[in-house]
Formats: sequence, structure tokens, C-alpha cells
Amino acid sequence: MSRFSDMKIEYRPIGVVHSPFKKRDGMPIQPAGASGIRGTVEIFSEYKDGLRDLEGFSHIFLIYHLHKSAGYSLRVIPFLDTVERGVFATRAPRRPNPIGLSVVRLVGREDAILHVENLDILDGTPLLDIKPYVSAFDVHPTERAGWIEKASEEARKARGDSRFT
Ligand SMILES: C[S@@+](CC[C@H](N)C(=O)[O-])C[C@H]1O[C@@H](n2cnc3c(N)ncnc32)[C@H](O)[C@@H]1O
Repeated sequence: MSRFSDMKIEYRPIGVVHSPFKKRDGMPIQPAGASGIRGTVEIFSEYKDGLRDLEGFSHIFLIYHLHKSAGYSLRVIPFLDTVERGVFATRAPRRPNPIGLSVVRLVGREDAILHVENLDILDGTPLLDIKPYVSAFDVHPTERAGWIEKASEEARKARGDSRFT
């Protein structure tokens, strides 16, 4: 057993996400299906100085705690499928470490408030980190996309249901 297996890692939220989604059922499952959906990210005052220069980026990664996820399953039937998959081959929210990752469009910044678009995040979600999305680093031509290849363009924009609530 690895010396890390019983290690606990503690993070503090740097802010909170405000979105139109008050419940998980029926909300977008990825930013690709949340085009134009606006919200704000409120950064706590002690972290505000770290936002300097962020407005130069049109897109940012939001990394957050999926705080309404309880427990996890190593096999899940993801939103876009009817077949069980290994959780790490999915974006399902019930994971051993319930960390969410979304690339959103940064519309603007007012002091410690970021105005963002394309949100697939529940209102009140604690934010762990922000990183700039840089196409030179983050865009890769892919040869395969596993089981998701089968899902149509339409399905990828579908809304979620209550399966992980
Ligand atoms: C499939 S996950 C994908 C999230 C992110 N884009 C990712 O890939 O990590 C998106 C779903 O997670 C659920 N969700 C969103 N915010 C959540 C939160 N704070 N706690 C628990 N579940 C959440 C909603 O059902 C939403 O449709």
C-alpha cells in the first residue's frame, strides 16, 4: 500500500460560483451544453490580488469541489450512456475526490467578481482554483475519445438527470 493512501489533503475555497442552477436535475452536463449561460464567480477578498492579469484571457479553467456529491462508485452509468463505465473514464460527479473542472468564457471582471459564460456548475459551489485556458497548451488533436465517440453532438449538449443525486 502506498504511503499516500491514508493521507488527507485539505484545501480552502478561494471563492464561490453563482449560477442559475439551484438543483442538479435538468442542468447542463458540460460547458458545451451550457452555451451562453451566465453566472459569476465571487473571489474572497484575501485572494483578490491573484486575479491580476486574468482578464487578458478569454477562457479560464474553474476547478471546484462538487460539494453536493456524496460517496462514490468506481463503476457508473454516465449521463451520455446506458452502459457501466469506470468512473475515471467519465466526468461523473460522484468520484473518490469530487473535483469538478470546467472551461468557461471570461466575459469580464469587476474587482473580485468574474462574469463568466457556459456554466455547468451548481449555484453555491466552492471554488478551489482558477487557471488560464491557453489554446497553445490545452488544445490537442485527439485520435480517440473512448465511449463518448458514440454520443451524438446533440446528446453531448443534453441536460443531466437525478442519477448522481
Ligand atoms: C457531469 S459533471 C461535469 C462537471 C465538470 N464539467 C467536469 O467535467 O468535471 C456536471 C454535473 O455535475 C453536477 N454538479 C454540478 N455542480 C455540482 C456540485 N457542486 N455538487 C455536486 N454535483 C454537481 C450536475 O448534475 C451537473 O450536470
